[in-house]
Amino acid sequence: MKKNNRAIALIGFMGTGKTTIGSLLAKKTGFLFVDTDATIEKKEGRKISEIFAKDGETYFRKLETETLQAVLTKDKQIISTGGGIILKAENRQLLQNHSYLICLRASPEVIYQRTKEDKNRPLLMGVDPKKQIEALLSKRQAAYRIADLTIDTDHLEPEMICQKILRHYHKLE
Ligand code: S3P
Repeated sequence: MKKNNRAIALIGFMGTGKTTIGSLLAKKTGFLFVDTDATIEKKEGRKISEIFAKDGETYFRKLETETLQAVLTKDKQIISTGGGIILKAENRQLLQNHSYLICLRASPEVIYQRTKEDKNRPLLMGVDPKKQIEALLSKRQAAYRIADLTIDTDHLEPEMICQKILRHYHKLE
């Protein structure tokens, strides 16, 4: 049977573990690890927070789509995406067409605990980050449902999460 080389993309809200799980999956599969946020920061030579502050979210979203288009031309990759990448229909279509799509989810409280010290998440820098997390989550919930598989990360260790993902992925072979 032909080996499955399709790229695996991770979507999900901020703080759901996409980068952690993505790099672990890359180690396990031998696939290349690509993080769309890190790719954008490298290309721009500045942090996400600076891009938002100086040029705004719309400009960031444009960079995000360009990055996704470039990245999704190859197989054998694990792609960790920014939490808002699913906002644009164009991005959702690209991801669905060119990757095996995993959504990581977590409860608002766990997301808050995992993100509260981070200064590089401009959308959570307001006066009430907990409220902001809930508002953004409810706005995005439907868009995250495009995934082939969704995994709740609240009570699962990274190792178990990777095992689940790879079990499903290899079933496609
Ligand atoms: C965003 C999530 C961030 C980053 C940017 C916007 C979002 O990525 O792309 O701050 O809109 O949810 P992470 O999900 O990796 O934190």
